[in-house]
Amino acid sequence: MDELRLNKVFAGFLFAALLLMAGVKIADVMVPHQELAENAYVIEVAETTDIAAAAPVDTGPESILALLASADLGAGEKLSKKCSACHVFDAGGQNKVGPALWNVVNRPLGASEGYAYSDALAGFGGAWDYAALNAFLAKPKGYISGTKMNFAGLKKPQDRANLIAWMRAKADSPVALPSADDIAAEGAN
Ligand code: HEC
Repeated sequence: MDELRLNKVFAGFLFAALLLMAGVKIADVMVPHQELAENAYVIEVAETTDIAAAAPVDTGPESILALLASADLGAGEKLSKKCSACHVFDAGGQNKVGPALWNVVNRPLGASEGYAYSDALAGFGGAWDYAALNAFLAKPKGYISGTKMNFAGLKKPQDRANLIAWMRAKADSPVALPSADDIAAEGAN
């Protein structure tokens, strides 16, 4: 290969390289490379130093004892429709997806005959007094972790009071309403 030809090849490479550099430069001009003035996403971080203070202690649902005496039974009956896919409240009612609930107020937990309760509920102990029903119906899985009752809960205290007052009447002999002393005692806790 003579020298002239070698030069031509070399010039060819040089030209290609120049073209490449020019291309990069042009691209840079067309799509300017800029530093963002600020983050595109602003991440809000609450300025708390005391994490314990930020997360309040779960004190359970609000008491409903004081609301029971003046509760609206009609509203309670309407609310019971939320339960009737799984429960029968009437006398002589059968267990369905959930246990029969006639006489349930003050009944020991897990006591409906022939019903296969979860171990969580069966082993929980105690009776369905007003406070237990209130806590359970506010958030079933929060009160008895592992219960197989798939129900999110009734957030409003007045709803729970109306429903529980109606459930109280679904019994052979409804248990007493909470006394003023009961209400005062719970408030003192
Ligand atoms: C999707 C079905 C379903 C719905 C809806 C439901 N429950 Fe239940 N409930 C269950 C099941 C299942 C159990 C048994 C739980 C266990 O064994 O852990 C249960 C248990 C209970 C118990 C305990 C009874 C006992 O004998 O110890 C009460 C009280 C109760 N439910 C009340 C209610 C009320 C009141 C409502 C409506 C606000 C309701 N449930 C809605 C399925 C349901």
